[in-house]
Amino acid sequence: MVSYKDLGLVNSRELFAKAVKGGYAIPAFNFNNMEQMQAIISACVETKSPVILQVSSGARKYANQTLLRYMAQGAVEYAKELGHAIPIVLHLDHGDSFELCKNCIEYGFSSVMIDGSHLSYEENVELTRRVVEYAHQHDVTVEGELGVLAGVEDDVKAEHHTYTQPEEVEDFVKRTGVDSLAISIGTSHGAYKFKPGQKPEIRLDILAEIEKRIPGFPIVLHGSSSVPQDIVAEINHFGGKLKDSIGIPEDQLRKAARSAVCKINIDSDGRLAMTAAVRKVLAEKPEEFDPRKYLGPARDKLKELYKHKVVNVLGSDNKA
Ligand code: G3H
Ligand code: 13P
Ligand code: ZN
Repeated sequence: MVSYKDLGLVNSRELFAKAVKGGYAIPAFNFNNMEQMQAIISACVETKSPVILQVSSGARKYANQTLLRYMAQGAVEYAKELGHAIPIVLHLDHGDSFELCKNCIEYGFSSVMIDGSHLSYEENVELTRRVVEYAHQHDVTVEGELGVLAGVEDDVKAEHHTYTQPEEVEDFVKRTGVDSLAISIGTSHGAYKFKPGQKPEIRLDILAEIEKRIPGFPIVLHGSSSVPQDIVAEINHFGGKLKDSIGIPEDQLRKAARSAVCKINIDSDGRLAMTAAVRKVLAEKPEEFDPRKYLGPARDKLKELYKHKVVNVLGSDNKA
């Protein structure tokens, strides 16, 4: 068992309390490899933003649990070396079992999500409560979820959104003891969030209703990539085939961040930025075969994207 505290990480409790009060959100950027981690940390150090390094179960398998622990510890030291010791959370994204959450906590995670959103309400309450009970013994914070996002979540596919029911949130929060709550208000995972012709809009009215029921309680938005059309165009220009990809408009996320939304999850936009940069190098310099020559520019583009998100979407700059 390694405690996240020994790695120099923090849990999300204090960060969320400040974010809710200050009207901004903490970025939760997913990562799987060194270049993504470097881009996240350098972007957040330069903008002086706290950050949540987010790892899905797939990412954990890809990167290896032991390497991840040292990468997170390395991230803390790297930030100091870059000149500013920002608060860093290592968070499990979409944990699907008590055992996985427990294992992550034993490997140095400071925060976990238990996603029981596909279960019945009572089963979700029971599983979440059990994770909270264990996590809190180790001062690890827990995110729960109510409502189902449309699209693909790990291997579970939902055709339509099941919006979070505001009438349920108070009971769920009270009975589970969660530290934050992910809700479903029209965001979804991946690069195809709306159909062409559909108005890309999230249900800020449901968010307001939820806030009324649990004032000041930290709310989390998943599926919050905006799918920048210039990046999609670049991918397609250099041989990609992304058709009709549409994301959440950034101004709507900015509005949400000003409210009780204090964590915004962004993965797909980073994937798109990296892909665009790699495609560009390989298309323009087909003779290139040194991975640093395409992963380096990918890392630069990613960093630029993250800085933009921090300053213009999350509003978390200068909060660390
Ligand atoms: O919510 C999903 C995240 O974007 C992680 O995706 O399971 O492919 O790593 P992944
Ligand atoms: P995006 O696919 O919109 O980036 O969402 C990521 C996410 O919610 C990770 O949990
Ligand atoms: Zn998610």
